[in-house]
Amino acid sequence: MRITVLTGAGISAESGLATFRASDGLWERHRIKDVATPEAFARDPELVHRFYNARRSKVAAARPNAAHLALARLARHHDLTLVKQNVDDLHDRAGSPEVIHMHGSIGGALCAACGHRWPAPAVMAVNDPCPRCAARVSRPDIVWFGEMPYHMERIWAALDQADLFAAIGTSGNVYPAAGFVQHAARRGAECIEMNLEASLNARDFDRQILGPATGTVPQWVEALIDSG
Ligand code: APR
Repeated sequence: MRITVLTGAGISAESGLATFRASDGLWERHRIKDVATPEAFARDPELVHRFYNARRSKVAAARPNAAHLALARLARHHDLTLVKQNVDDLHDRAGSPEVIHMHGSIGGALCAACGHRWPAPAVMAVNDPCPRCAARVSRPDIVWFGEMPYHMERIWAALDQADLFAAIGTSGNVYPAAGFVQHAARRGAECIEMNLEASLNARDFDRQILGPATGTVPQWVEALIDSG
């Protein structure tokens, strides 16, 4: 069976990392457009770096939870394509063999002048010189609002071939990821949503499994492995 899984901020919530759309509409006390857009970076790169430097140290201190570990186990039993929206590295640290980071990674640095990438230091600054071209416009290697997500061709191809599509801990607010369910369903995949509550595009899924990811995901994975 070919399975494509899309994960969002909800899968890392129980590892202590804040989701994006908490009830107050703020992301760790900031409006998303003040820290997660190219315009914000052009206007106030120090603020953007301060925000992501704090986030990077929280990610470093966080540990993969039972849901991350279960998905790593699933990959050992089924043909799994794992696509994540989060910029943390908890799937990688849980042992998932290949993770598609469609929104980039907080562990990466990107030169806004030449596009070169390198591992981000714990504390980044806009003035860090690019190791390739020496320009001083260093930014986190993260896909911001208004930018094109990474690896889209590979992702559409996996969705085309999936027998089963599961979205875990994502609110269905941000495209193109929010449209994956419709694409997979049109190609004949069974579509399952795992979330605390039904997401915005809940009716596009065949079924919902509601509850915290550390409970629902390991149970779902074990059932899939048992069914061969
Ligand atoms: N278990 C399962 N689901 C959970 C849990 C949990 N413990 N905690 C929260 N959730 C659910 C919420 O109900 C919500 O639907 O996870 C979802 C998180 O939604 P968002 O915060 O909107 O995160 P996400 O969908 O990943 O955001 C998508 O938006 O800000 C951009 O680029 C950023 O990748 C991000 C994208």
